[in-house]
Amino acid sequence: MNIIVTGGAGFIGSNFIFHMLKEHPDYRIVCLDKLTYAGNLSTLEPVMDNPNFRFVKLDICDREGVYKLFEEEHPDMVVNFAAESHVDRSIENPEVFLQTNIIGTATLMDACRKYGIKRYHQVSTDEVYGDLPLDRPDLFFTEETPIHTSSPYSSSKAGADLLVLAYNRTYGLPVTISRCSNNYGPYHFPEKLIPLMIINCLHDKPLPVYGEGLNVRDWLYVEDHCRAIDLIIHNGKVGEVYNVGGHNEMKNIDIVKLICKELGKPETLITHVTDRKGHDMRYAIDPTKIHNDLGWLPETKFADGIKKTIQWYLDNEDWWQPIVSGEYQDYYEKMYKNR
Ligand code: NAD
Ligand code: TYD
Repeated sequence: MNIIVTGGAGFIGSNFIFHMLKEHPDYRIVCLDKLTYAGNLSTLEPVMDNPNFRFVKLDICDREGVYKLFEEEHPDMVVNFAAESHVDRSIENPEVFLQTNIIGTATLMDACRKYGIKRYHQVSTDEVYGDLPLDRPDLFFTEETPIHTSSPYSSSKAGADLLVLAYNRTYGLPVTISRCSNNYGPYHFPEKLIPLMIINCLHDKPLPVYGEGLNVRDWLYVEDHCRAIDLIIHNGKVGEVYNVGGHNEMKNIDIVKLICKELGKPETLITHVTDRKGHDMRYAIDPTKIHNDLGWLPETKFADGIKKTIQWYLDNEDWWQPIVSGEYQDYYEKMYKNR
């Protein structure tokens, strides 16, 4: 089996590559990544010398480059993680989200149509369903929940999902889609809530909680997401969508307090800042379908996963220090200075 994994130098894609090379040592994995600010080649260092692994620096929107790679590799499957992934950045500048997340997805699928493929898998998000009210804890996102997006990020992901399903219906492309809740774990880029709070705590810097911090996210350890995608690409039904989540809903403020406690830092570091525009209140996945059809269940409890994650950041300063001391500084200044 030869699999092209796009966006494999990012957070979830890299964890997926490690998972696949470990679980399927006879597979060839080709990582295609543009290495944007969020892509980090040092993350892939442990597998660079693996003879079953190849890294190619390429933009998924580069049609010529993508077609050439398909001619060279004759992939059996494509798993598309490549995306602009940060909601706050999408609010500042939507255009690159439309380009990568929509046009890039179409370009990859055109290559799959031209050269043939056994499976195209789209890594999507629960954010395509919009949000749920805080006073209706009985409501969850199922695969039948209508698409109803809030941010340019989620809209671009929803646009891509619609295209993926259209390529299945119109051209018979063998596709699957997974829509997962918020991931956390090693190699999470420091602009996202959990790594940002860990790293700020370590520097005794203010912890910027948007609004009152009552927004709820449904957190899943990244390895559980990787296992779900592995199951879907092998056993999932073509044309189907699978929701992935572990029934682990938490308020942002409780996560931040927990990180303070684990690191022995005072909660006085918490600073409430201006809320995100259009901020989604609550995400909550109903994972019944993937459980019943594919036998998937999450393995890592949040209490263990967050400890492992914090320990990983403590042990891997070499990974995050160059990131937070580089152009990320300018980003942080711009996004948080007058908030
Ligand atoms: P990330 O931002 O950490 O990584 C994205 C990767 O894609 C980077 O390596 C980047 O260099 C690469 N990339 C960006 N534009 C590209 C382009 N035009 N061509 C090739 N490569 C490009 O993102 P992540 O958090 O790992 O998310 C991966 C996927 O999972 C995304 O599609 C995201 O929408 C989805 N997702 C993420 C979460 C989450 O909690 N992080 C939850 C559900 C779904
Ligand atoms: P984030 O990690 O950006 O993921 P998403 O918006 O895709 O769910 O944010 C998670 C939650 O944390 C979200 O409700 C926004 C909030 N948040 C803060 O309160 N402060 C921050 O500095 C960041 C980055 C996020």
